Amino acid sequence: MNIIVTGGAGFIGSNFVFHMLKAHPDYRIICLDKLTYAGNLSTLEPVMDNPNFRFVKADICDKEAVEKLFEEEKPDIVVNFAAESHVDRSIENPQIFLETNIIGTSVLMDACRKYGIKRYHQVSTDEVYGDLPLDRPDLFFTENTPIHTSSPYSSSKAGADLLVLAYHRTFGLPVTVSRCSNNYGPYHFPEKLIPLMIIRALHDESLPVYGDGLNVRDWLYVEDHCKAIDLIIHNGKVGEVYNVGGHNEMANIDIVKLILKQLGKPESLITYITDRKGHDRRYAIDPTKIHNDLGWLPETKFADGIVKTINWYLENESWWQPIVSGEYMDYYEKMYGDK
Ligand code: NAD
Ligand code: DAU
Repeated sequence: MNIIVTGGAGFIGSNFVFHMLKAHPDYRIICLDKLTYAGNLSTLEPVMDNPNFRFVKADICDKEAVEKLFEEEKPDIVVNFAAESHVDRSIENPQIFLETNIIGTSVLMDACRKYGIKRYHQVSTDEVYGDLPLDRPDLFFTENTPIHTSSPYSSSKAGADLLVLAYHRTFGLPVTVSRCSNNYGPYHFPEKLIPLMIIRALHDESLPVYGDGLNVRDWLYVEDHCKAIDLIIHNGKVGEVYNVGGHNEMANIDIVKLILKQLGKPESLITYITDRKGHDRRYAIDPTKIHNDLGWLPETKFADGIVKTINWYLENESWWQPIVSGEYMDYYEKMYGDK
């Protein structure tokens, strides 16, 4: 089985590459990644010499490069993780989100049509459903919840999802889509809440909490997401959408306090800052379908996963230190400077 994994030098994609090489030692995994600011080749260092792994630096929007790779590798499956993934950046500069997340997806699917494929899998997000109110804890996102996006990021992901489902209906492309809640774990880029707070707390720097800190996210350990995608590409039904989440809702402020407690740092580091524009209030996934149809259940409890994650950042400073120096500091100043 030849599998092209796009965006495999990013957070979830790299964890998926590791998972697949371990779970399916007879598969060949080809990672296609543009290595944007969020892609990190050092993450893939441990598998670079694996004869079943190949890394190719390319842009999913580059039709020629994508077709060349399809000709060379004749993939059975494509799993598309490649995306611009950070909501805050999409508020600053929406254009690149439309290019990568929508046009890039169409380029990949056109190559799948041209060369033939057993499965095209689109890695999507619960953000396509918009948000839920805090005072209705009985409400959850199901696969039938209407698409109702808030940010340029989620709109670009929703556009891609619709295109993927249209390619199935119009051209019969064998697609599946997964919509997952917030992931956390190793190799999470330090612009996102959990790694940002861990690293800033380690440096005794202020922890910027947006608005009142009461926004709720539904956290899933990254390995559980990877296992869900593995199940979907093998056993999922073509043309279907699967929600992925572990019923682990937490308010942002509680996560930040938990990180501080675990690191033995004072809560006085918390600084409430201007809210994110269009900030979604609550995400909560109903994972009944993937549980009933494919037998998926999350394996890592948040209490264990967050400790594992904090310890990973403590033990892998050599991974994140080069990231949080240089350009990243300019990013931090630009995004947080006047808030
Ligand atoms: P990430 O930002 O950490 O990684 C994205 C990767 O895609 C990087 O390696 C980057 O270099 C690569 N990339 C970007 N543009 C590219 C292009 N034009 N061509 C080729 N490669 C390109 O993102 P992530 O958090 O790992 O998310 C991966 C996917 O999962 C995304 O599609 C995201 O929408 C989705 N998702 C993420 C989460 C989450 O909590 N992080 C939850 C649900 C869904
Ligand atoms: O729900 C899935 C989505 O989760 C994915 O589709 C996105 O790719 C991924 O980035 C993530 O989006 P969020 O916007 O939920 O994640 P982020 O880590 O940016 O923020 C999590 C929450 O923390 C959110 O309510 C905003 C808040 N926050 C974030 C940052 C970076 C803060 O309060 N302060 C911060 O500095």
